[in-house]
Amino acid sequence: MSDLADMKERLERFGHEAVERIHQADSLQSLEQLRIRYLGKKGALTEMLKGVGRLPAEERPLIGSAVNRLKHELAEALRERESLLQVRLEEERIAAERIDVTLPGRRHPRGAVHPVQKGLDEMTAIFQQLGFLVAEGPEVEDEFHNFDALNIPPEHPARAMHDTFFFADGHLLRTHTSPVQIRTMQSMVKRGEEPPLAVVAPGRVFRCDYDMTHSPMFHQVEVFQVDRKLSMAHLKGVLSFFLSSYFGRDLPIRLRPSYFPFTEPSAEVDIGCVFCEGKGCRVCKQTGWLEVLGSGMIHPNVLKAVGIDHRRYSGFAFGLGVERLVMLKHGIPDLRLFFENDVRFLRRMGA
Ligand code: DAH
Repeated sequence: MSDLADMKERLERFGHEAVERIHQADSLQSLEQLRIRYLGKKGALTEMLKGVGRLPAEERPLIGSAVNRLKHELAEALRERESLLQVRLEEERIAAERIDVTLPGRRHPRGAVHPVQKGLDEMTAIFQQLGFLVAEGPEVEDEFHNFDALNIPPEHPARAMHDTFFFADGHLLRTHTSPVQIRTMQSMVKRGEEPPLAVVAPGRVFRCDYDMTHSPMFHQVEVFQVDRKLSMAHLKGVLSFFLSSYFGRDLPIRLRPSYFPFTEPSAEVDIGCVFCEGKGCRVCKQTGWLEVLGSGMIHPNVLKAVGIDHRRYSGFAFGLGVERLVMLKHGIPDLRLFFENDVRFLRRMGA
């Protein structure tokens, strides 16, 4: 075989091998390495073209053009492979980014309003409907607002009955929401205003007590109105509107004479038993009545303590236990269910 033929054959074999490698390159990086190896400044083809110059003159055109053709062939193969790899890369990227819309979503458990809060909100809303304004007072109180101004002087037995949590500095956790009466009347007087005043005050109260029906923290709603010529008839009207709204039906109510230091006269309020409709059962101890709250006409001493003229104005007030009313409405047997936070109970009661 002539040198020429031999050289052409080697060139062809080299070309085949190179094209084969290019086709097998599986990344843009390895493809780039091949381009440098074959077509780079110090690449194989460049070296070959330099070699052509050293050939005898008559062989140069033939070999020269063969090397050039090969150079174009390899460049073309590199381009083809590159665009194929780019397409493949793009497809992989798209596949990786695809969202499977048929996959079920992650569920977030739905929260619920706590039954006590729900009761508070419902009760407050009923009084707002009647035009009462919502007021709140501090949970840490002083003896003046919690006791003295409510006509409970230091040695009064009612003070001992309240099972009060005291702080070392003489402050205390309020034992009822009645101090909000004092605070709202005081600030009205301070603003230089006069009654009428109609307030609903929902909130948390504290007593050192714990059993089936008592918890050291519970909730009350305090309601009171001060105006000229208010009587027990107004009290009873507001009470029966409230109680039938809250229980969703007309309930018989009765007022029983009672005693609170901050009201005179005072009355305990009963509703017809919601469990036996007044016929007598275990819950109402066969009486047909359930005691639900305390009430009365605001004591003149209370009005005096805040600087309201008790000869000109009178008022009625009542305070109710929220948990107790929620328990009666929903037939919940044990107060402690509200505070154990068993999600099965909360979910069933929740709104
Ligand atoms: N503050 C009383 C208590 O917690 C409840 C109460 C009774 C409030 C009679 C009143 C009322 O406003 O007139 O036991």
